[in-house]
Amino acid sequence: MIEKIRKVREQARQEISSAKDSSSLDELRIKYLGRKQGVITNFMKKLPGLSSEEKREAGQKLNFLKNEITQGLLERSIQLEKAKTKSQDLLDISLPGIRPSVGNTHPVNRMISDLSEALVRLGFDILEGPEVESEYYNFSALNIPLEHPSRDVFDTFYVDLPREKQFRRLLRSHTSPMQIRVMEKLKPPLAVAVPGRVYRPEKPDASHSFMFHQMEGFMVDRDIRFSHLKGVLDFLAKHIFGSKSKTRFRPHFFPFTEPSVEVDVSCIICGGKKKTCPVCKGKGWLEILGAGMIHPNVFKAVGYPKGKFTGFAFGLGIERMVMLKYGVQDIRLFFENDLRFLEQV
Ligand code: DAH
Repeated sequence: MIEKIRKVREQARQEISSAKDSSSLDELRIKYLGRKQGVITNFMKKLPGLSSEEKREAGQKLNFLKNEITQGLLERSIQLEKAKTKSQDLLDISLPGIRPSVGNTHPVNRMISDLSEALVRLGFDILEGPEVESEYYNFSALNIPLEHPSRDVFDTFYVDLPREKQFRRLLRSHTSPMQIRVMEKLKPPLAVAVPGRVYRPEKPDASHSFMFHQMEGFMVDRDIRFSHLKGVLDFLAKHIFGSKSKTRFRPHFFPFTEPSVEVDVSCIICGGKKKTCPVCKGKGWLEILGAGMIHPNVFKAVGYPKGKFTGFAFGLGIERMVMLKYGVQDIRLFFENDLRFLEQV
C-alpha cells in the first residue's frame, strides 16, 4: 500500500504540473480528491483492512498526499492564470491592424502638379517667387503706372508704407511680378512657369477669396509668336480638361501684354451643346485665363534691347480650374480644411 501511495504521488505531481488549463485541473481534482471515486478516497476505504501499524503510516501518508495535491492544484492554477495575462499583454498579431489615416494631395496642389507636369513636358522650368513683393515688381515694371485704374482691383495688402511709393511692399496680387524678376536675372530663351499664392482685397463669397493661387507662364525668345501661345494653351487645356476640349481666344486688355486675350475652354459639362447647361449657362464656353504677347514696356523695364525679343505670357487661377474641372461650387471650401471635402479628390 505504501508503495502504491508513492507511485500515485509521483503520478499526481506529474499530471498536475503538465495540466494545460483549468478544466484539466478540475478533472485531476475529481480524479484524486473526488469524494466518491477519488484515488485518495479509494485508498482511505481500504485502511480498515490493514494492520494497525500499516494503517497509521498509510493514513498519515494519505493525508499528507491529499494536502499536497490540493496545494499542487492551487499553485498550478495560479501559474496558468499568470501565463494567460502575460500573453494578453503581448501583441496579438491575429487582430487586424489599425489602419493609419493616409492623407492625400490638396486639390489646389494637385492642380498645380498637373499643370506643372504638362508645362515641364513642353520644356518649361517651374519657379517660385516671393509673396511679399515691392510695388515696383507688382505694378510699375508690369506697365501698370501709379494712376492706372486697373490698380484698383489689385490695391491690396500693404506691408509697410514708406514715403516713396515705388518702394512700398505689399502682398502680391498676382504671379506676374515673377516675369520681371526672372527676366532681370536671365536672358532668353526662357520658358518659365510660376505657381503660387496671391492676395486681393476681396470680401469672401462663393467665388471670391482674399487669397488664392495662380499659375503664371511665359516664354521669351527671338521669334516667339501668338501661334506658340495658342499651341501651349490648347495643349494645357486638353491636358487638364480632356482631349476633346477646345479653346477660344477673345480680345481683352491687360497692361502687360499687347495684344491681350481672355481664353475660354469648351464647357466640360455639356461640351457647348446644351442651352440649359447650369455650368456654362448655355454659352458653351468657360473663361479660364488671361494671356497675351509681352508688352514692349515690360521688356524695357528688364533692360532687354528694344525689338530683339518677343514672348507670350499667361496667368490662370488654380482654384477656378479645380472648380470647373470637379464642379466645386464654393471657393471657400479649399481653405476650410474640412476633410469630407478634401478626401473626395
Ligand atoms: N496677372 C493677371 C491677373 O492676375 C493674369 C494675367 C493676364 C497674367 C494676362 C498674364 C497675362 O501673364 O498675360 O489677373
